[in-house]
Amino acid sequence: MATYKQIIKTYSPFLKEVTHIPQKEVEILLLFLLEKNTIWLHLNYNEECKVEDKLKVLVKKRATNYPLEYIIKKASFYGETFIVNDGVLIPRPETEILVEKAEVILKSIQTPKVVEIGVGSGIVSIMLALLIKDIKIIAVDINSKALELAKQNAKKFNVEDKITFVLSDIFTEIDVKNFDMCISNPPYIQDSFSLPLNVKYEPSTALFGGEIGDELLKKIIDSTVKNNIKYLYCEMGYDQKISLGKYLEKYNPKYVEFYKDYEKHDRGFCVEFNKDENVK
Ligand SMILES: C[S@@+](CC[C@H](N)C(=O)[O-])C[C@H]1O[C@@H](n2cnc3c(N)ncnc32)[C@H](O)[C@@H]1O
Repeated sequence: MATYKQIIKTYSPFLKEVTHIPQKEVEILLLFLLEKNTIWLHLNYNEECKVEDKLKVLVKKRATNYPLEYIIKKASFYGETFIVNDGVLIPRPETEILVEKAEVILKSIQTPKVVEIGVGSGIVSIMLALLIKDIKIIAVDINSKALELAKQNAKKFNVEDKITFVLSDIFTEIDVKNFDMCISNPPYIQDSFSLPLNVKYEPSTALFGGEIGDELLKKIIDSTVKNNIKYLYCEMGYDQKISLGKYLEKYNPKYVEFYKDYEKHDRGFCVEFNKDENVK
């Protein structure tokens, strides 16, 4: 039988086409199967590997571009490890910027009330619940699988008492009277866009925002204003700054900031509306 070191060398080439870190990913799959950590593996490189058959199955699956996070059922976000499941979007690092921006303003509000549209795995609401004392959040999604997963993550991080999860299309099933902020990383990709292979395994309802892409974002803007919510913080597509900037203008906001992601692409906006001004 082969050692762990030999097994890693044997299986790494199978992942060359799907990742730039094939060896590291084989190690991650191995550790997932063994329920061990990297230090353990380094200390046991020359021991006999008894899980080759199981590893082979996982490597084959990953070689089809199936996301690593769905196999190992976890993903990192904001320095924390969240549970992930297929059928729910895998957290992306750029969404950390949205959380950072929201944290700044929410820290200046006493007992802030926040609504999140499209909670997915729960990363945004849960991080805010961990970062902001006395926050109350209503988190909605149209995907019941997402809500189940978000609840599981809320339990993991012990913030269940701060977040209420509701199956709702935007605000249809909830009452958002006297809320301070609406936050969302909604689907914003153009329906006709051809997705890279790995992303194809993620739910299309979490990705596609309409014929142009920004339709749901515009609905979120309208709903936020209609419900007299002062702050709206959203992630958006890299090419949506101009259209959304124009759309926001019609509500005469007090302050608008567009921000970029780690690759310097336009990626989101933070708005402060003039409360009561647009409410009929
Ligand atoms: C891009 S994912 C974001 C998930 C999570 N917040 C994150 O940042 O990883 C968008 C989420 O919005 C949900 N969604 C799509 N349309 C919606 C709607 N009309 N109302 C509420 N949620 C919606 C999707 O099911 C999906 O979970």
